[in-house]
Amino acid sequence: MAAGLSGKQFVIDYLNQLKLKPSKNFRQFWNDLEYQHGRRAIAPLKEAMSQRNPGATTNDIYVLKNQNLKLSLDFAKYSADLYRRFFDWLVARPHPQAGRLLDVGCDNGIVTCFIASLFPESEVVGVDIEPRAVACAEELANRLGLTNVRFFQSDVRQLDTLLDARSFDRILSVRSFHEMLGEVSEPPRHWSTQELLGRSVEAGHLHLLRMMRNLLRDEAAELITFERLPWLASAAMWADELKQAGLFVDWAQAEFIAFQEVGENQEMPVFVCRTTPSDCAILEGVYRLYGAGSAAALMAGAEYEDAEAEALFYRIESKQFLSGIQIDFPEDTQMRYELWQTESSPVLYQYTNVGNRKLNVLSVGDLETAMRDFEVTLPAHYQNQGFKVKTYHEQVQRGEK
Ligand SMILES: C[S@@+](CC[C@H](N)C(=O)[O-])C[C@H]1O[C@@H](n2cnc3c(N)ncnc32)[C@H](O)[C@@H]1O
Repeated sequence: MAAGLSGKQFVIDYLNQLKLKPSKNFRQFWNDLEYQHGRRAIAPLKEAMSQRNPGATTNDIYVLKNQNLKLSLDFAKYSADLYRRFFDWLVARPHPQAGRLLDVGCDNGIVTCFIASLFPESEVVGVDIEPRAVACAEELANRLGLTNVRFFQSDVRQLDTLLDARSFDRILSVRSFHEMLGEVSEPPRHWSTQELLGRSVEAGHLHLLRMMRNLLRDEAAELITFERLPWLASAAMWADELKQAGLFVDWAQAEFIAFQEVGENQEMPVFVCRTTPSDCAILEGVYRLYGAGSAAALMAGAEYEDAEAEALFYRIESKQFLSGIQIDFPEDTQMRYELWQTESSPVLYQYTNVGNRKLNVLSVGDLETAMRDFEVTLPAHYQNQGFKVKTYHEQVQRGEK
């Protein structure tokens, strides 16, 4: 980074050079593209975007948007704020030495060239399967006058035949692994995230991740992965896949990066991994990340949902099970209500085997009514609707039906 330039200013200057300003919303995004490049050029791209479904491995979009660098950069306005927030995170990290860096799934090189500009002493390599993306990346590097970056076209799965083992200090994937490995699908049925850990990982995933590990130089080397992981369970499963390939998330550095994408608020977790095991277990790590509010601060009347509810519930250290009921809905969907006593107040934890979670913090005075609800009102409510209801007075073991 040029002397005296603050990290944030460096990011702003870089994005300005690329004229990367975020689009306010979808309409503005497409209107601007049509205005700049003509309706005829944009129509197939619009079509490819609308047909894009989760799990699709089509590279159509990357072929179409990378017809030339101008179009490629204009299209990147979709993600301009994502780049800005990720770069802000990157420049704020301590960088003892930049060394040699690999950007996998580099596309048009926006991230790769940023790193190369940030670390002029380093050697940066970008790789992408799509030849037009690589051509745009090369043109971008030339335009920016960068001499420490090179790009090549390859399927990342073949990198071990092209690159030397233990030759990189950093590997970076910005939204790329989950495109190479198939987009994240809904997690299988589970009552708690713990049930999803230690499962066997697809051979193709393990092969790719082990190859990444082999490219890392030493124990100080890092793999940074910033992917779309929509659920707590998918973040945990991703960390578990990495772990099974010998890449361990450093949970102290894991965090969410929030950004706007065509007007929508989004956030994605960023993981820094190393080849040596981390002190913190995956479950503890994800619960810390998703339940960032302290469990000690549980306030009577508070209500938490989804990942935060699960994370907070499991982070309550001292709690005693009081009572529970399980309701069986059609198609093997089940829900449990459980009442627990914590050191400060009773809590009601409601969870299903299909991912819903809710945590209500009750006041001490609510306990008697809540117990009565468990014995009478709740079972009657669901039985009257024809559902099977089971009351239990001992904590169910994980996964138990
Ligand atoms: C969502 S884009 C991310 C691009 C870039 N990292 C960024 O954030 O600007 C995913 C990229 O991965 C590339 N890709 C998908 N499968 C690949 C593979 N098997 N090998 C190399 N690149 C791949 C695509 O061509 C695409 O450019």
